[in-house]
Amino acid sequence: MVALGLTAGCDAHAGRPDRSDAAASAAATPATPATPAAAQDPAPAPSVPATGRYQAGVTLPQPAQRNLLAVVADVPAAVAVGPLLADLGRTVRALTAGTDPRLLGLPPGDLTVTVGVGPRLVRAAGPSLPGAADLPRFSRERIAPRARGGDLLVQICAGDALLPAVAATALLDAAGDRLRERWRQSGHRGANIPVSPATRSQGAVTAPRNLLGFVDGIVGPHTAAARDRHLWLAGPAPVAGGTIAVLRRMELDLPRFAALSVAEQEAVFGRRRAGGAPLSGGTIASDPDLGAKTPDGRYLVPADAHVRRANANAVGAGLMLRRSYSIDDPAPGLLFVSFQNDLRTFTRTLTRMDDSDALLGFTTATAAATFLILPGFDERRPLGSSLFR
Ligand code: HEM
Repeated sequence: MVALGLTAGCDAHAGRPDRSDAAASAAATPATPATPAAAQDPAPAPSVPATGRYQAGVTLPQPAQRNLLAVVADVPAAVAVGPLLADLGRTVRALTAGTDPRLLGLPPGDLTVTVGVGPRLVRAAGPSLPGAADLPRFSRERIAPRARGGDLLVQICAGDALLPAVAATALLDAAGDRLRERWRQSGHRGANIPVSPATRSQGAVTAPRNLLGFVDGIVGPHTAAARDRHLWLAGPAPVAGGTIAVLRRMELDLPRFAALSVAEQEAVFGRRRAGGAPLSGGTIASDPDLGAKTPDGRYLVPADAHVRRANANAVGAGLMLRRSYSIDDPAPGLLFVSFQNDLRTFTRTLTRMDDSDALLGFTTATAAATFLILPGFDERRPLGSSLFR
């Protein structure tokens, strides 16, 4: 879709030899008077339920919305965490229902708000609970103290690019002086590339391209069974229905990556850039065959390719649901976002990548944090009530 759009645009600018400028400009002029702008606004995307067994913004909606704002804040020591989370949950319900006046009349559409608590707060609720462990340090980090960790994550996603900032302002207003903002990051996703059609056991899987041009988010726990096994926490009871999030802002060295040939770029990832298929063959939906070799004995998926270093079986870890967003501020890169029911799925994977992943040479991490995404909530079961009074 993107390629077709660009081609059409280039043709129009270059001017085709068989078409005069006058004819081209006549073709570009609409035959009927312009429709008023309001009438051209697309209908708001269908709403995503904020309440239920799980919070929205992890598996739903699928595909993920185009725009994200992640706000990470600290909770001062004297603050009662239970009432703070309950107030945030109430505000989330009002925002997604479109009844909060702080939305300023904007239709909420597919707005989702996902709330997580950092390791310090989890330890206060129970030192051995999932989510109590801090994210360790890794190589290639240039992380200011302010951009490491934090007590509270508010991940806001929406199809409407205006909504995340408006919703964040409303949520911070509801929290008042009970939250001190630490860092925030906006991100955007490009067009969705189909990976596999819907089947009886899973919905259609799609994934966007990232700033390096590659489809990102193909492999993951996409069936209900895989999500039960790898994504959602089954217990202990206070965290059941939650999950563990990792956020890692990665700057990307785009000029150096773009200077590589396409074949060299593909060797970095172990997949084709255009269609997303593994270098071992098949389609975008195929798993890489890590044993496949050329007749002269070289691996088709190179030894240091990202999909080999990060492969769950090769790592000996579970699957992670990656839901990353591309960023261009403070520098071009990726806000890597993953959800998994065991932090070790992330730490073991990155430890193995740290040894020799060709991709990491193009990255510098500038923010990192982990959070327990709280179980789902509703009117009678306020957000965070299973963990905090
Ligand atoms: C800027 C940094 C990164 C970029 C641009 C990136 C991009 C990609 C791309 C394009 C793929 C191949 C297609 C896919 O399966 O989605 C991929 C796969 C994967 N990535 Fe990353 N990634 C980055 C960082 C990370 C990090 C930090 C981790 C976790 C520690 C990670 C974990 C994975 C996993 C588990 C896969 C699937 C591998 C497989 O089984 O084939 N990635 N990534």
